[in-house]
Amino acid sequence: MSNGRPVLKLGKHQPRYPLIQGGMGVGISGFRLAGNVARCGAVGTVASVGLAHNSPHYSQEKMSYFDSNEIVIKETLQKAREIAGVDSVLAVNCMVALTDYDREVRAAAEGGADVIISGAGLPLRLPEYTKDFPDVALVPIVSSAKAASLITRRWEKLYGRRPDGFVVEEPATAGGHLGASSIEQVYDQALSMSVALPDTVRFVAEEMKSDIPVIAAGGIWGPGDMDRMFEMGAKGVQMGTRFACTVEGDASDRFKQAYIDAKEEDVVLINSPAGLPGRAIKNPFVADYLSGSVKSSPCFANCMTHCRYRKTRETFCIAGGLIDAFNGKWDTGLFFCGSNVTKVDHLATVKEIMDDLFGR
Ligand SMILES: Cc1cc2nc3c(=O)[nH]c(=O)nc-3n(C[C@H](O)[C@H](O)[C@H](O)COP(=O)(O)O)c2cc1C
Repeated sequence: MSNGRPVLKLGKHQPRYPLIQGGMGVGISGFRLAGNVARCGAVGTVASVGLAHNSPHYSQEKMSYFDSNEIVIKETLQKAREIAGVDSVLAVNCMVALTDYDREVRAAAEGGADVIISGAGLPLRLPEYTKDFPDVALVPIVSSAKAASLITRRWEKLYGRRPDGFVVEEPATAGGHLGASSIEQVYDQALSMSVALPDTVRFVAEEMKSDIPVIAAGGIWGPGDMDRMFEMGAKGVQMGTRFACTVEGDASDRFKQAYIDAKEEDVVLINSPAGLPGRAIKNPFVADYLSGSVKSSPCFANCMTHCRYRKTRETFCIAGGLIDAFNGKWDTGLFFCGSNVTKVDHLATVKEIMDDLFGR
């Protein structure tokens, strides 16, 4: 503990503050946000998904989407490090559900990531892809102690390695894809923070007999929320929504304005093409989707291993929707958000948020 706060250690890496800015795709947490958060002493996280979409490598059709992704992940990390400085802690968030997951993870490790944070599925093979980079800390995102146990047992058996921490993300509050099998399960008490966090803390201490950190994510806004998580045994918190609407945030101004404007009745749950529930702002695109009449751009990248849109043309192209949101296209974008989006009332700076959280 330092100043009554836990010290967050992720393998060999120790940020000044026990805070991770969550990876937000597509493009919402790029090099500016991750670099500035890391410069302020927390873990800055680049979201690896779809970074190719606005890169010159891909957009000038010189290279395939997947080849470009690899290059842009490395370029993004390099730019983030230039902002953050050498002693900073930078993570890359890689989603298991992506077609080029293994390539994205390798690119992140080769590109100098200190930590790889991985969810949207169970990262059962993650250590295989980073075996040449033992200093890269590996942190699965889970929604229950059961998932943490399954991953740990598999890694120990196959790779003789253990996770360097777990992010426990609560579907009832978090943004983006949610770790629940259906919309009905999102508010299941078993997946609530008050159950999943202490359960996972207990699993780590009693069954793993380890002191790796458990990090709480979902619905965390201010110092009081952080303290509640620390009291339940978390050694760190991960926050997404609050950081998305910052001066340094990589999304367009229109994306950020949508956050400022969002009211409680605008925040809805949808079934994403990946077969997972997601939380988003109800704009014209989402309203059409919920009423069964959405028009979508064609699949252009085969970006996910399981995609209902690619298979059956049901739902919509999620890459297209998220990229439109990043670019601020209000009528056609999918604006993912956490339930805390209703608290966003201005464009903050990263420093302002850090001062609010730790300046006491
Ligand atoms: C716009 C947006 C995009 C997100 N994209 C990803 C992603 O690509 N991968 C991932 O693992 N989590 C993603 N998340 C989840 C965040 O990393 C974070 O864990 C979560 O939002 C924490 O909850 P909070 O937003 O209430 O702070 C996303 C969240 C938001 C708001």
